[in-house]
Amino acid sequence: MPTLKIFVGTVYGGALDVAEQVAPLFEQAGYRVTVLEQPTLTDLVDDMPDLALFCLSTTGSGDFPGDLVPFVRDLKARTPSLAALRYGLIALGDSSYGDTFCGSGRALDAILEDLGAQRLGERLEVDAMETFMADDAALPWAEAWIADQNLTV
Ligand SMILES: Cc1cc2nc3c(=O)[nH]c(=O)nc-3n(C[C@H](O)[C@H](O)[C@H](O)COP(=O)(O)O)c2cc1C
Repeated sequence: MPTLKIFVGTVYGGALDVAEQVAPLFEQAGYRVTVLEQPTLTDLVDDMPDLALFCLSTTGSGDFPGDLVPFVRDLKARTPSLAALRYGLIALGDSSYGDTFCGSGRALDAILEDLGAQRLGERLEVDAMETFMADDAALPWAEAWIADQNLTV
């Protein structure tokens, strides 16, 4: 059975809630799903999943949630080749923060791309100004992502 790991970065739990809501969709699509609340680089590199989904909010002024900081720091320091990685990314943010809207999600997407990973489809950016419950945007996005990218196994 192929594996999907969901890498979560959250401050208030919204991104974790999204991860837990979309996980069953991927199980139905044939994946063994793991939700990682405090992911390490080992989770990504040493036991690379068939598919990864990054699900993270932005805090501070365009900053990564604290639980994701060691992961991103190690990713930047060790620069592993991620040429074999296929992933999707859901960024939670709030457009009232202006230029730093979804800043951490955009930054992680750029780092992953630099390391050779292949994003499937477009990044989802959920704006708290427009969508009170991020699940309302994430669930239809995940359904469409699975269908459009032919991810069902
Ligand atoms: C102190 C604080 C700082 C924030 N900074 C940003 C920011 O710079 N950019 C952004 O897009 N959203 C920012 N947000 C909004 C959060 O990313 C948004 O509310 C998100 O849905 C929270 O998700 P979470 O529950 O997973 O932490 C900030 C929220 C708080 C409370």
